[in-house]
Amino acid sequence: MRNRKPLMAANWKMNLSLDEARDLLNGIKSATIDFNRVDVLVAPPFTTLRLAHELLAGTGILIAGQNMHWESGGAFTGEISPLMLKEAGCGHVILGHSERRTLFFETSETVNQKVDAAIEAGLIPIVCIGETLKQREDKKTFDIIKTQLDESLETSCKNGNLPQGVIIAYEPVWAIGTGKTATPEMAQEVHRFIRRWLIENFGPNTGETIRILYGGSVKPDNIKELISQPDIDGALIGGASLKTDSFVSIIRFYDS
Ligand code: PGA
Repeated sequence: MRNRKPLMAANWKMNLSLDEARDLLNGIKSATIDFNRVDVLVAPPFTTLRLAHELLAGTGILIAGQNMHWESGGAFTGEISPLMLKEAGCGHVILGHSERRTLFFETSETVNQKVDAAIEAGLIPIVCIGETLKQREDKKTFDIIKTQLDESLETSCKNGNLPQGVIIAYEPVWAIGTGKTATPEMAQEVHRFIRRWLIENFGPNTGETIRILYGGSVKPDNIKELISQPDIDGALIGGASLKTDSFVSIIRFYDS
């Protein structure tokens, strides 16, 4: 029996007006959620963080930024610092999402800098990795995952230390927003590989404690099967997290 508590994390991406966000947050707030069985997190756009912080105060629902710069301040037009995220109410930050890597040319090297800065600032990073369709078809999935892990967590590997709260999100790029989900077995195979990598680099105590989320077209009707896999500890949810009903059904996977 796994003793990692499942985490359901909503990645809103660049969606929802303030009014829409208020409705959704109030909807999640009024749902009956058994927080002994699941942790819940929302990652709204930067301009919605304050609202989320105000509305979710005292609920136990966690808040994350969707990205962050590694410097603490300076001439970085358009960027946001770790401290700014903390001041806006975040305890977590998503780093290295495939949309950041592909559309905004982020590399694992900068993801590593961001991970270090987040840890230093007391933010918990959710580090995203995942292969493209071509890489999967070329049978390079495990090589890619290993390289992304080695490089995105390079400093932690060198120190032999990864803070226990750090979260990994495995998101096959071909499954994001496409309606194609990896089968639970395909996802589990990669999660197991990531778990072994964590144990090799940081020892069994840390490796068995770190939560590994699955992301890519997670929906109310596939969450139960995914989460029943031994190394899938929750989900990073895009599209299906934008509607109260579907996000709440995913959160309450234990009821279905
Ligand atoms: P999706 O997005 O659920 O819409 O596929 C997941 C993600 O990109 O985090």
